[in-house]
Amino acid sequence: MSSSSLTLASVADIHAPRFLNAFRSALSKIELDSCVAFIIAGDIVERGKAREARAVFELIKEKFKGPIIAVFGNEDYEEIEDRLKMDNPDIIWLNDEFYDLQVGNITLRIIGSRGVLDNPTPWQRRNIPNIREIYLQRLVKLKTLLRSSPHPTILVTHYSPTYKTLKGEPPRIWPYMGSRRLEKVVEQYKPLIVIHGHAHKSHVERAFIDVVPVYNVSLPAFNKIFLISFKPRKSLLEYF
Ligand SMILES: [Fe+2]
Repeated sequence: MSSSSLTLASVADIHAPRFLNAFRSALSKIELDSCVAFIIAGDIVERGKAREARAVFELIKEKFKGPIIAVFGNEDYEEIEDRLKMDNPDIIWLNDEFYDLQVGNITLRIIGSRGVLDNPTPWQRRNIPNIREIYLQRLVKLKTLLRSSPHPTILVTHYSPTYKTLKGEPPRIWPYMGSRRLEKVVEQYKPLIVIHGHAHKSHVERAFIDVVPVYNVSLPAFNKIFLISFKPRKSLLEYF
């Protein structure tokens, strides 16, 4: 990689305390000094256990002094979002929001969200009556955020923005794990990189939506922290 490249560290699905040891071990195998940010693509804790999040962030902070950016996963229940934010105020939480990360004279825009499902899960349909509407609104919001970004942009979601990185999971549940509707949005607005988690049994680390690389950084799938290097251009199209 040339000197104009930047590197992000990223992982998802730590499900603390369930995979905390695997996370510790994965962290011990990498150097984070050259990374510009550490991004967690959701499911920091298991089944809403908010107090377990602190251990995850402490492990990262032992090795990395830069910004830590996180989105919520389905296991980081909506009811604990405020608690997670309050207990961990130095983390940059993105919930259908963006954060502009300044790296020297470069501004990187990170857009973060729990993401979108094409079909709500049976549990979601039973417990969240307007869940289809929520996903539709989120899809529109993400489209607006991507369209209006003036900077090189990284999209982070918990759910997958494509079915391509779900191979290894049973195909019949792909619509409950990701979104082809969001894939179309990514294809249209072409962020530099897309990062997601949630696909624990996937065997696809990276796929492409058109020219956009999509990384599935789920810890139980690959047992590693991803180090993703890229050139911070406004658009991938500038390569061509
Ligand atoms: Fe998960």
